[in-house]
Amino acid sequence: MKFWDSLEKPFFVLAPMDDVTDVVFRQIVSECAKPDIFFTEFVNVDGLQSPGRPRLIKKLFLSQYDKPLIAQLWGKNPDNFTKTAEQIADGSLAKELGFPAGINYAGVDLNMGCPQKNEVTAGTCSALINDRPLASDIISATKAGLNGRLPISVKTRLGWNEVDLSWPEFLLKHDLNMLTIHGRTRKEMSKVPAHWDQIGEVKKIRDKVAPTTLIVGNGDVMSRQQGLELAKKYQLDGIMIGRGIFHDPFVFSEDSIWKEMTKEEKIALYRTHVELFKNTWKNNERPVYTLNKFCKIYINGFDAAKELREELMKSSSAEALLRSLS
Ligand SMILES: Cc1cc2nc3c(=O)[nH]c(=O)nc-3n(C[C@H](O)[C@H](O)[C@H](O)COP(=O)(O)O)c2cc1C
Repeated sequence: MKFWDSLEKPFFVLAPMDDVTDVVFRQIVSECAKPDIFFTEFVNVDGLQSPGRPRLIKKLFLSQYDKPLIAQLWGKNPDNFTKTAEQIADGSLAKELGFPAGINYAGVDLNMGCPQKNEVTAGTCSALINDRPLASDIISATKAGLNGRLPISVKTRLGWNEVDLSWPEFLLKHDLNMLTIHGRTRKEMSKVPAHWDQIGEVKKIRDKVAPTTLIVGNGDVMSRQQGLELAKKYQLDGIMIGRGIFHDPFVFSEDSIWKEMTKEEKIALYRTHVELFKNTWKNNERPVYTLNKFCKIYINGFDAAKELREELMKSSSAEALLRSLS
């Protein structure tokens, strides 16, 4: 039985966000209000299977708090998907990161949705919408590496320049365990509201083509309640929330306490985040300025928050930041 067979529906997922949902932030979210599933940031398999591995592999750090965790992969070369999937499924990658036997990822997800220029120019991520033979090869190669030991999923968009439901239908014919649809096209980036009605259409296709594949909807969800309503309206298995976490770290809670939290409590939460960051990312593995986007989350919604943020963002190290926060 796959782990998500036992999840109550609709289940909630924290979206993968590069340079945001690292192992540190996932632990903070877990402490505030835990989603049912976590994703890693996307990790390039071609880089992972190259001399650049030591730097990249750290994106796949896990912890005991962010379970179940799905490793999200992207890249071009199917052989590298096979090798990486194999190393994930047999536990050797987690072991390489220093984790004891038994601590491992719960699944592998393939990024076929990122619209950024570098990824698209390289013919990867959302460019696969236009290269279906390669998309197919990548799914088969990943499955070969997993060899049935872990579930496989894909996260994608509704199409390239236009909504094109032949794309999710194509993916659904690949016997996936889960398909996440971000309700926009590649061209739309994040500039227009998500087309939830089209996510609903994908769910109808799923019912015909691949009844056992779970469908997760994603785009602009700002609260658990809103997610529940969308899941009910479009009969979805799960809801994924990304940027909503920037407005409320308790977004997965049934009754978020964020708005009632005092300035002191918010500062204390940021402090916990920075402590964890300092203990996890040593030797400047992640520079201190990458904390600024989190500063905007916690140092918000109270008098003189802007001035305090400006002061904190000048910190040259996590230690200096902690001193300012004490
Ligand atoms: C800063 C940032 C980084 C992202 N990185 C990834 C990523 O690594 N993999 C991925 O599949 N999607 C990534 N996304 C897309 C989100 O997972 C999600 O699909 C998108 O933000 C829409 O959901 P939302 O409206 O709930 O934020 C990223 C989005 C943002 C804002």
